[in-house]
Amino acid sequence: MIDYRPFIECLSNTSLAHWQAPLSEQMAQLFANLNDGNLPRFLQQLDKLPNIDHLKINLDRVAASTEQPLTQDQSESLNEALRGLIPWRKGPFQLFDTFIDSEWRCDLKWARVAPHLSDLKNRTVLDVGSGNGYYGWRMKAAGARLVAGIDPSWLSVVQHLAINRYFNDPSHTVLPLTLEQLTPNLEAFDTAFSMGVLYHRRSPLDHLSELRAALRPGGELLLETLVIDGGEREALVPPGRYARMNNVWFLPSPQALALWLEKVGFEDVHIVDVTHTTTEEQRNTDWKPGQSLADYLDQDDPNLTIEGLPAPLRAVLIARKPDDQQRLRRYQL
Ligand SMILES: C[S@@+](CC[C@H](N)C(=O)[O-])C[C@H]1O[C@@H](n2cnc3c(N)ncnc32)[C@H](O)[C@@H]1O
Repeated sequence: MIDYRPFIECLSNTSLAHWQAPLSEQMAQLFANLNDGNLPRFLQQLDKLPNIDHLKINLDRVAASTEQPLTQDQSESLNEALRGLIPWRKGPFQLFDTFIDSEWRCDLKWARVAPHLSDLKNRTVLDVGSGNGYYGWRMKAAGARLVAGIDPSWLSVVQHLAINRYFNDPSHTVLPLTLEQLTPNLEAFDTAFSMGVLYHRRSPLDHLSELRAALRPGGELLLETLVIDGGEREALVPPGRYARMNNVWFLPSPQALALWLEKVGFEDVHIVDVTHTTTEEQRNTDWKPGQSLADYLDQDDPNLTIEGLPAPLRAVLIARKPDDQQRLRRYQL
């Protein structure tokens, strides 16, 4: 239903060539057995996207433009198709005269993350929980050779297809997969990102191990997740919901998270940023109507969530998979 062959072709002559066969097989199986009620409706929106010639792409701004103004027909079809894919949680994107003002100002997170990364030039990147691939464009702008986003949300997958209809880059994709479904032990990506995913995992150490297994020896992990203030032995397990989310499991302190990373076999672990989420960064907009962060916080005390727990605080950590594969053995049973 979605043609991933151009992306799979891009894996040729890279350290990920051994992923081509299992990925082709996995996508064939997935689409053969697929029974998702929403996907056809999402895909229909793509048919409404107008053809536009003489494109200019600005990856840093995540913007597509053209010298000629769009005709009224083109403009209306574009807007209708993109609005048909609401809610847009991640962005922003500028597509010609349409500005997709997403719920999250992902440019603010990227500004916290980017200065700490090893040079992305020519690197192969795995972006776990990529959403619609916003960050992948910023990674491409920084010179990444190939970006494989993975995300189980079909809406994210189709939003990426809508953007890539104009950006037209087969080396950046969003695959409809969780990290648990990714071909195990690829041992090949130069850099892996896991941003905003760890707290959704019931088994966070397994998540970290799976990230490690996707990286080549010497590869770099960028981990971003919700944390709490506290010492290296502290983690919060919300008894019920957290900021209205019912799928939040572990919020460690940044120090505890660093220890977890070392425990599963990362080294050179650094906590590079700890920032409170603000209502400037996460807010409801025309492109994501309904509730947002302001509604998830205690109305009288913005330091607390509506459930009385510490308000969202996020940490960014960098770690490296050792070149020496022996190091992990001592922890394994
Ligand atoms: C809070 S969003 C974060 C998106 C983006 N990485 C960011 O930092 O803004 C979490 C994303 O992870 C995806 N996700 C949830 N569980 C996942 C898993 N096990 N593997 C990969 N992605 C997952 C969700 O569909 C969602 O798009």
